[in-house]
Amino acid sequence: MVEYDFGGQVAFVTGAAHGQGRSHAQHYAKHGADVVVTDINRNMDTVPYDLGTPEELDETVSLVEEEGQEALAIEMDVRDESQVKSAVDEAVDHFGTIDILANNAGIAHFGDLVEIDEAMWDEMLDTNLKGVWLCAKHVGQHFIDRGDGGKIVSTSSIYGKVAGPGSGHYIAAKHGVLGLTKTLALELAEYDVNVNAVCPTGVETPMVAGVMEAYGEEALETATEMTGPWNIFGDGGMIESKDISEAYMWLSSDAARYVTGIGLPVDAGMLAK
Ligand SMILES: NC(=O)c1ccc[n+]([C@@H]2O[C@H](COP(=O)([O-])OP(=O)(O)OC[C@H]3O[C@@H](n4cnc5c(N)ncnc54)[C@H](O)[C@@H]3O)[C@@H](O)[C@H]2O)c1
Repeated sequence: MVEYDFGGQVAFVTGAAHGQGRSHAQHYAKHGADVVVTDINRNMDTVPYDLGTPEELDETVSLVEEEGQEALAIEMDVRDESQVKSAVDEAVDHFGTIDILANNAGIAHFGDLVEIDEAMWDEMLDTNLKGVWLCAKHVGQHFIDRGDGGKIVSTSSIYGKVAGPGSGHYIAAKHGVLGLTKTLALELAEYDVNVNAVCPTGVETPMVAGVMEAYGEEALETATEMTGPWNIFGDGGMIESKDISEAYMWLSSDAARYVTGIGLPVDAGMLAK
């Protein structure tokens, strides 16, 4: 494991109850940061699998504490500006500052663009794109006010870089995350804020397990039809949350101080095909 020193820093992680967000929270703590762990903590109407729960978010708190760092748990829906603003204010009141925003929360569902309904489009775009903007807006304003730089890392996807049939609303949102990332990088550069995104291939998380259960093998087949196997190594299977966390750590660190406005694929070679 590469060593980073986030001692004295505070990371604000969205979607931290389980999956990649929990792993990011653990990794920030392992490298010395205190962590604000946030999650919607309930299911959403159009999402056909279970999202995070308060109990799971508490478990993330324990995992951060096991690393010897402090965790603050806040229930927050990234789609709701008043909740985002109040969570950012609460985090700053509690810790005095935020140094890193990890914009990870997201949902998935499937359907061709001529088939999905407005509710699916709205919940997808509101969560996977508007939520990223709202958190960047309020943490970004905090970075400007405090005048000491900052780091924003957001999760796009390989579907932020390529498209295919079966999930156009997800693909539109994830392409949007890269547009937001590039624009924020330009707008916040004068305040020494680095803004980047990570573009994962398939990662073994509750999202993938839930999608498989809801849609069956067909979902995986649709996805692999778009882009080929998830992974050019080994059996072509999925990668792990920790592989994405490592990219988050690097982009949140001063080792990447001249990296801004990129969408870093952690794709096990998928996009090379
Ligand atoms: N798993 C994959 O294969 C994969 C691949 C590429 C990108 N991604 C992206 O990675 C990110 C993390 O996904 P994951 O696989 O860990 O998913 P997950 O479902 O396992 O975890 C996502 C977390 O986000 C939370 N969340 C969802 N909507 C929210 C909202 N409106 N407000 C606050 N919290 C909310 C959920 O409660 C859950 O705890 C997502 O942005 C996803 O789109 C996942």
